[in-house]
Amino acid sequence: MTAALETTLRPLVPQDYEVLASWVADAVACARWAGPGLCFPFHAADLPALLAVPGARSYVLAEAGALPLGFGQHWVQTPGAVHLGRIIVSPQVRGHGVGRRLCELLIAAAIESTHATAVTLRVYRDNAVAVRLYAGLCFLPVEAESTAETLFMKRAAGPT
Ligand SMILES: CC(C)(COP(=O)(O)OP(=O)(O)OC[C@H]1O[C@@H](n2cnc3c(N)ncnc32)[C@H](O)[C@@H]1OP(=O)(O)O)[C@@H](O)C(=O)NCCC(=O)NCCS
Repeated sequence: MTAALETTLRPLVPQDYEVLASWVADAVACARWAGPGLCFPFHAADLPALLAVPGARSYVLAEAGALPLGFGQHWVQTPGAVHLGRIIVSPQVRGHGVGRRLCELLIAAAIESTHATAVTLRVYRDNAVAVRLYAGLCFLPVEAESTAETLFMKRAAGPT
């Protein structure tokens, strides 16, 4: 999908809230996206508060002047490590490399703004597409920090 290559990250703005909310169809999808802390259904206008994490930065992936195709956040969870979270791609464009593009740019933005030496994330073990995406970006499972349901993954803050 060539469009993915013309996309860049920009900050989340209020006009994006409805679009982002429309990607989350039900409680199961909501939990897979954002974990058990974000209850479904939710009001789009409440998203900034619902997604708030101390020190977090939120981005959308989009072509210039266009609607978002993806969303993700990063925040520092432990010193030296930047954590990626709430990664999601519009259901209409999944499977065409947008998720990979989103993650590559999100990793670069996270490292640039925090100077972390490691990047981490947590994913449900049965989320095969997401696990494959992260493995393809050099994230490795850390079983000691994982649970029966979720996999904690980590990579060095270098080029993929
Ligand atoms: C996970 C998600 C972000 C991936 O985005 P995407 O744009 O579909 O991903 P990509 O097209 O970049 O593909 C990523 C990898 O998954 C593979 N993949 C994509 N769709 C797939 C499918 N339906 N079945 C099997 N593999 C698939 C791709 O081949 C690619 O693997 P590769 O790099 O080894 O070739 C997207 O599916 C999504 O938004 N899911 C719902 C929210 C979610 O689960 N977020 C993760 C929270 S941790």
